[in-house]
Amino acid sequence: MGEASSNVVTSGEVLTRPLSKIVVPAEGSDGLFTKSWFPICLSKDVEKGKVICRDFLDGKVVIYRGEDDVARVFSAYCVHMGANLAAGGDVIGNDLRCPFHHWVYDDSGRCIKTGVGDPAPERAQLFAFPTTEICGIVFAFNGQEPLYDFPDIFGGYSEDEVLIATFEDPRCPWPVDPWSIRGNTPDWAHFACVHNMEVNNEDIPDPKSAYEWSDYWVNFDAPVTRVMPDGKVTRLVYKAQITGTTLWHNQGTMNGRWHMLLSALGIPAPGTSSHFYVAGAHLGDGSDAQERETREFVEELIDMWDTMLDEDDVILQQQHYKPGLLTNADAAVARFLTFVRDYPRAHPSREFIN
Ligand code: FES
Ligand SMILES: [Fe+2]
Repeated sequence: MGEASSNVVTSGEVLTRPLSKIVVPAEGSDGLFTKSWFPICLSKDVEKGKVICRDFLDGKVVIYRGEDDVARVFSAYCVHMGANLAAGGDVIGNDLRCPFHHWVYDDSGRCIKTGVGDPAPERAQLFAFPTTEICGIVFAFNGQEPLYDFPDIFGGYSEDEVLIATFEDPRCPWPVDPWSIRGNTPDWAHFACVHNMEVNNEDIPDPKSAYEWSDYWVNFDAPVTRVMPDGKVTRLVYKAQITGTTLWHNQGTMNGRWHMLLSALGIPAPGTSSHFYVAGAHLGDGSDAQERETREFVEELIDMWDTMLDEDDVILQQQHYKPGLLTNADAAVARFLTFVRDYPRAHPSREFIN
């Protein structure tokens, strides 16, 4: 990171050298993808006993829910003759049966029997992605084992203490890699220009001192004031984290009221992003009156976020990202690009999902 970090400007400077030195590999280049948690589908899309198919990375996966109510994400193609397991496949208990010759895969993706009595070949195995389900979204990790746990997005509260609303973004797919969109999060200039927020250069947190960087995530605080299209002023105070190359979440206050937000970017194909988002607020004492008030507050949060996503969407629908010239207001973006450039990549499911 040393060489690229020295290109990050300090206050008052303007970066005059092209950022071609911070070249971030596109997802899928050299056949590799960042080892992150990716949202795959909404939980409600995969009912108990059902199997569905989604595009993921550069191939296809199936998602099914067994009788134990657990959603599993496997490579889509049967290792016998390549039938798509969602094209007529059956969920039997917690197992998945191929529609073509009835090979049966157990809950770890291992083939345990064939349809006509031959023993299951020893190495007959689907790729089973590490999977978790949070806030009504099914996530899969690109790797054999997750590099890190899914982050705590409830700020220490339990999920049932928080009223949430979850959405799959109808604006998607966006024709850019998830990490490129995630780079919007520390992009202070765009908050001012696209989102009508009051951002002064002197208020922009210094990426060297005000951010906490690790190999897999970055933490930062973000106090911002936004003037809504109707003239209403919203004060947001965030304790934010970008986790991996796909998640952004924060806990903080909007006009003094605690809330959480999660934005999760999926990759249905290289150079393409899907988007899922969640807003939530603490339910208080659990009374009907508190629940009603919390519901209204969450709706207000979603309205604000939808407005901001509409503003981003105009850019994202047509963006053609390539390394460019940055100025001092882009210092955090530049640091984020080095984070992504150096991020671990792999593609262990390649032979299975293609
Ligand atoms: S293709 Fe799946 S059992 Fe033959
Ligand atoms: Fe934005």
